[in-house]
Amino acid sequence: MNIDTLKTIGVVGAGQMGNGIAHVFAQAGMSVIMHDVEQKFVDRGLATIDKNLQRGVDKGKMTPDDKQQVLSRVVGTTELGAIERADFVVEAIIEQFDTKKATFAELDRITRDDVVLATNTSSLPITRLAAVTSRPERFIGMHFMNPVPVMKLVELIRGLATSDETYELTRGLAEKLGKTPVEVQDYPGFVANRVLMPMINEAIYAVYEGVAGVEEVDTVMKLGMNHPMGPLQLADFIGLDTCLAILRVLHEGLGDPKYRPCPLLIKHVDAGWLGRKTGRGFYSY
Ligand code: CAA
Repeated sequence: MNIDTLKTIGVVGAGQMGNGIAHVFAQAGMSVIMHDVEQKFVDRGLATIDKNLQRGVDKGKMTPDDKQQVLSRVVGTTELGAIERADFVVEAIIEQFDTKKATFAELDRITRDDVVLATNTSSLPITRLAAVTSRPERFIGMHFMNPVPVMKLVELIRGLATSDETYELTRGLAEKLGKTPVEVQDYPGFVANRVLMPMINEAIYAVYEGVAGVEEVDTVMKLGMNHPMGPLQLADFIGLDTCLAILRVLHEGLGDPKYRPCPLLIKHVDAGWLGRKTGRGFYSY
């Protein structure tokens, strides 16, 4: 396989990350089959791609015709079997090991043997997911950042069995998307979340211990460190359930108490205050 033979990309999951991933592949000229389990999720994903492409049209960076061309390259489906035509697959479904395991077992069965299976997981072990397939050497972590069309980074995580050929192909593909890939080994949280989540957790501890209020902590980091968003605003953006799940992976996987999730974070998740997606987190939306 070389990069020019990758004409059709399968994207499994049309949520926040999945539709962004489909968007960038289509924008780079590839055909995309975007799957989700229900038509309403597929429709929402397609509508989000439309909305985000429109930003470029509104700013004169893209013509309405270019936008239509990109949209026409994305086909939505609720049939996982439709991914059989894909030359490369990126999975971006819910962060539950058993659900991903079942999906990869199915993708392994339906896709051609030479197809690379990539996962956008933010914290599950690549090596363990690879082991549920018959092709662990053609399995890799391809971790995009949110919002995918904007963020330049893609963490490429090598499982224990990932071949050099798979790594090089995926690296070339990430570069074709205009992204900057960074090679990372398969340890809990990889690099992005190993560094980011303790900062977010510490910001929540600062609020929990009454060091400062939510807005004050965010203002310190925005104006003092030039972060585009404060850590609590960013936690709401990522999803507090996602932040908690990643902290638990770090805590259990590395066994160090410094990663223990703040009780205030746990309380927000228990309340269903998950951030932007539920209309309430550390802020109200
Ligand atoms: N899709 C496409 N384009 C988008 C977009 C989206 N969803 N959101 C914003 N944009 C574009 C805007 O159109 C704008 O484009 P131009 O520069 O061409 O004008 C640009 O991005 C900046 O957007 P805005 O002016 O609307 O807003 P902003 O300046 O406040 O930036 C932001 C918004 C890019 C989200 C910025 O606040 C930011 O960078 N925040 C931090 C994001 C971050 O840290 N992401 C990583 C999260 S961690 C993660 O993803 C990994 C994990 O596993 C949890």
